[in-house]
Amino acid sequence: MTILTINNMNVDFATADGNVKAVNNLNYSISAGETLGIVGESGSGKSQSVFALMGLTAHNGKVSGEANLHGENLLTMSKAQLNHIRAEKISMIFQDPMTSLNPFMKIGKQLCEVLIIHKGLTKREARHESIKMLDAVRIPSPETRLNQYPHELSGGMRQRVMIAMALLCRPELLIADEPTTALDVTVQAQILTLLKELQQEFNTAILLITHDMGVVAEMCDRVLVMYGGNRMEQADTESLFNTPSHPYTQGLLRAIPSVTEDMDRLPTIPGSPPSALINHKGCPFKERCEHYKPECSVAMPAFLPVRPNQSIACHVFGQQTVTPILQTA
Ligand SMILES: Nc1ncnc2c1ncn2[C@@H]1O[C@H](COP(=O)(O)OP(=O)(O)OP(=O)(O)O)[C@@H](O)[C@H]1O
Ligand SMILES: [Mg+2]
Repeated sequence: MTILTINNMNVDFATADGNVKAVNNLNYSISAGETLGIVGESGSGKSQSVFALMGLTAHNGKVSGEANLHGENLLTMSKAQLNHIRAEKISMIFQDPMTSLNPFMKIGKQLCEVLIIHKGLTKREARHESIKMLDAVRIPSPETRLNQYPHELSGGMRQRVMIAMALLCRPELLIADEPTTALDVTVQAQILTLLKELQQEFNTAILLITHDMGVVAEMCDRVLVMYGGNRMEQADTESLFNTPSHPYTQGLLRAIPSVTEDMDRLPTIPGSPPSALINHKGCPFKERCEHYKPECSVAMPAFLPVRPNQSIACHVFGQQTVTPILQTA
């Protein structure tokens, strides 16, 4: 069952240097219990595309389009309506848990408040539920933790508390923006496993933003590849890795280190991402693309299927069913 559908979403920022187009005509949907990954280089609009859903766009930003959650447009809702949705239907976890946790408030109080305000529980019930949730995110001796401040916990533990807080009201959609980037690899693996287990338990949809293609392979059912604020490729995870079809996706996958191959240097995508300030004509990837053709400068390519569960926006490969073979070295 589809729970969220994004139609023609745009996020623009007015700056002293001109208009910054952070998200350009974005479309996607996500179903209950599934994990959709959003990947792309720094500045490609990943965070802004989800901040807009949460009403977290900065004051100089303008959001347009539709983000329908069960038929209601999140982008045109009043603050009060959005507050209600934010607690009960959508939650978000960030890279740095301290952006969600109050450093001056004991963990127990922070967790209980959410339940008292949004679920109308009594103090006693809220305490009971909080302990249950800390237990669910595998925090040892949860009763003791309730009386501690966030700084008394390790980074991994804080991340677990943040996940507990995000899941307290059993949201249908959890947005996770680089949730494990700041953690070491072992803790990262534990947190990802935990997210997967909780997702199965609560049938939560997860929108997972990450730089890490390893995390994508591990966690996501489908993937959206963004570049310069645009959707360049969307596919189920298996197709994305087996037959990456947009030249940009191919570049991203080539840049993953291999443990089996002897590589002196990791291939990179030459050039740098486009400035979001300039109103680009044509494909935003054209300057860095090895398959560039003059038509790429004319208009943004249409988003077309290349296989049943795979579509790309590309003038060169968009119309074809055969894609170039990925060279890994
Ligand atoms: N308040 C703002 N005013 C002007 N431009 C902004 C503002 N906030 C974000 N931007 C711009 O929007 C674009 C998209 O930023 P966003 O944070 O979504 O990128 P990202 O893909 O999440 O990158 P990263 O991987 O580094 O987190 C960037 O060019 C950024 O500079
Ligand atoms: Mg970001």
